Amino acid sequence: MDSNDAGRGLGGGQTGGREEWGSRLGFILATLGSAIGLGNIWRFSYVAGDNGGGAFLLVYLVAILAIGLPLLLAELALGRHGRSDIVQTFARVVPQRPSAQWPWRVVALTVVAGAALILSYYSVIAGWTLRYFVDYLVDLLVPVAAGPVARDHAAAFAEFIADPVAPVGWHALFMGLTVGVVVLGVRGGIEAASRILLPLLGLIVLGLAVYSLTLPGAMAGVAFLFAPDWSALAERRVYLAALGQAFFSLGLSMGVMTTYGSYLSRRHRLPGASATIVAGDTLFAVIAGLAIFPAVFALGMLPSQGPTLAFVVLPQVFAGMPGGGNFALAFFALLAAAALTSAISLLEVAVAYAVRRWAFSRRRAAVAVGTGIFLLGLPSALGFGVLSGVQILGRGILDAVDTAVSALVLPLAGIAFAVLVGWVWARHEALAAADLTGHWLARPWLCLLRYGAPAVVAVILLRSLGAL
Ligand code: TRP
Repeated sequence: MDSNDAGRGLGGGQTGGREEWGSRLGFILATLGSAIGLGNIWRFSYVAGDNGGGAFLLVYLVAILAIGLPLLLAELALGRHGRSDIVQTFARVVPQRPSAQWPWRVVALTVVAGAALILSYYSVIAGWTLRYFVDYLVDLLVPVAAGPVARDHAAAFAEFIADPVAPVGWHALFMGLTVGVVVLGVRGGIEAASRILLPLLGLIVLGLAVYSLTLPGAMAGVAFLFAPDWSALAERRVYLAALGQAFFSLGLSMGVMTTYGSYLSRRHRLPGASATIVAGDTLFAVIAGLAIFPAVFALGMLPSQGPTLAFVVLPQVFAGMPGGGNFALAFFALLAAAALTSAISLLEVAVAYAVRRWAFSRRRAAVAVGTGIFLLGLPSALGFGVLSGVQILGRGILDAVDTAVSALVLPLAGIAFAVLVGWVWARHEALAAADLTGHWLARPWLCLLRYGAPAVVAVILLRSLGAL
């Protein structure tokens, strides 16, 4: 009947029998699950805190709309058209001559490696959230005097991440969970997990925000998030931080959305789906900010704490609240669940590649790739203890990898996607794949991909290279 039925009928063909999302809602929830993650809660709160709050939010919104949205649509269109992993998808839309094929093959393989690299340290942080969650859970079930609510959080956190074993163990556990979901497949694993976890996330974050806003002094936190401090706009690093955060939070330019798009059927309207994903991801970050900043201000803490905000300041905030233990439990459940639905999307990029390239079974691919990524993450997991002597440009290992990824790899790969879809891919095919043929948005979309996104990203990158 339509292209997916034909695809299924191929049987032995390369796209034959390709898995598909169960429903439109399932696809939206899975992509939202990929977008919403540690980036919206752990990363958004500290990056916004570090870069002036309101002014950052403004630049971030512009970046999301002008660059994030067109790129998201480009990736989804590319994926649905290619109906394969990222490497083969690139090969299908690039001119067939070798001089065009191999450079894009290199780009695609770099993207696969980039997704693996992100997951390697993402899983370490997710492991911390798991450990906090389990800690608060145990304390709830078997309360002891020196439980997690009462302890000295700065010292306890520093001690925990410096341990040579514990962070590695939690990292392994989290990668194990991620592999477990991906083994179950697109519909039975990724979509099912997102269907359960995402509504739960929404409830928890809303509950936390409402509670946080009722604390005395909460309005200072709201003002911090929404009242722009214009002087921050004079600082170059704000732009790069906002851009990097936009890429990271939407999960762009690492082939995740292309891969998820490849499990789509023709029935979906991609511009609408893209807008929904962008709106949902941004709304979630803002609500998470409303859960975090009012509480931070209400307790007289500093929002510009940096990456430890979620693990040190917030537990202190929780300790000062009546019933804070439950609040903490809900918060770390939220973080761990959000991290899981994002981690599976990052793993799926390389798994889809391995399944097609080496004809691995899904299970074998997930276990092999997952193990490799676990090993790749070891330096990040050990970087606060055994390897704390290793500093890259004055940063610890995990921080250095995160900065390199968000400030360099994501923006560069973003330019590559924009150029591929805007310039290299046949125009009529790209428009048709994006459901924009004859649409008034076709021209703005192409213009943003061809000129807007590459130019803005390049300028911000170049101007900031010195400011890293
Ligand atoms: N978007 C997720 C978050 O906010 C993380 C993530 C998923 C990601 N896929 C990605 C980041 C691809 C960069 C690239 O936590």
